[in-house]
Amino acid sequence: MTARIIDGNALSAKLRGELAAKAAELTAKGTQPCLAVILVGGDPASAVYVRNKVTGCEKAGIKSLKFEYAQDTAPADVLGKIAELNADPSVHGILVQLPLPKHFDEKAVLEAISVEKDVDGFHAENVGRLSQGQEAFIPCTPNGVMEMLKSIETPLRGAEAVVIGRSNIVGKPMAMLLTAAGATVTVCHSGTRDLNFHTRRADILVAAIGKPKFVTGDMVRPGAVVIDVGINRLPDGKLCGDVDFDSAKDVAGAITPVPGGVGPMTITMLLANTVESASRAARKA
Ligand code: GUN
Repeated sequence: MTARIIDGNALSAKLRGELAAKAAELTAKGTQPCLAVILVGGDPASAVYVRNKVTGCEKAGIKSLKFEYAQDTAPADVLGKIAELNADPSVHGILVQLPLPKHFDEKAVLEAISVEKDVDGFHAENVGRLSQGQEAFIPCTPNGVMEMLKSIETPLRGAEAVVIGRSNIVGKPMAMLLTAAGATVTVCHSGTRDLNFHTRRADILVAAIGKPKFVTGDMVRPGAVVIDVGINRLPDGKLCGDVDFDSAKDVAGAITPVPGGVGPMTITMLLANTVESASRAARKA
């Protein structure tokens, strides 16, 4: 059996078309959605992600502001910019690209962003709201994964879902969203004793480990939906995921490719959160 490919580019194109229409409607009524992106330091992968976010905004009719800081920037400078953006009513979303240089207190920076403009959904209050099922900005990558599962009508209620990885950005919010949708969720990580035991039980397997081709076909339950969140660069310059696509596709029922899977969906959900934030601001105005 060869798995159905869940095409993140195609789903993104559809959703971004809908978002562009909403952005145009808001703009016509006097509120153009606007995202401010802060990049500190010269991490090449972060620079690519930020460029893709800015381009995604432009194509959807969302205004973007980019602020770049040198690696040795004082945290106070970045915190000052965040305070300024928090107070600017024309800015609806603020994103600080992670990781930050080591001399930054990442938590303090994320908490400095106004909860109403936290379109990444990383502020502790948004995380708490999500965990309690209250209205919240949902972190973009796991939210994009949920959209992909919805797009192929994956049954979630009662499903066995296994998430490999427990990061604040992906693993933990992914587990919360799947739990809220009625799945029985297991979160595996580097300390998990028998990883294959867990992965082979999964109806839905989400890999967010950061290790190239870590999940092989023998770890996948036949017919499972396999979601690959990893983006790794191989020595030959090619991108690959955390899943060994070639062996997993012969076992899975559906699978996301890398590139062209979860990656574009992350940016799509960022655009969605920015448009939603602008729409809330317009309702209040
Ligand atoms: N670094 C890796 N993923 C992300 C993300 O989704 N948002 C931000 N701000 N930084 C990241």
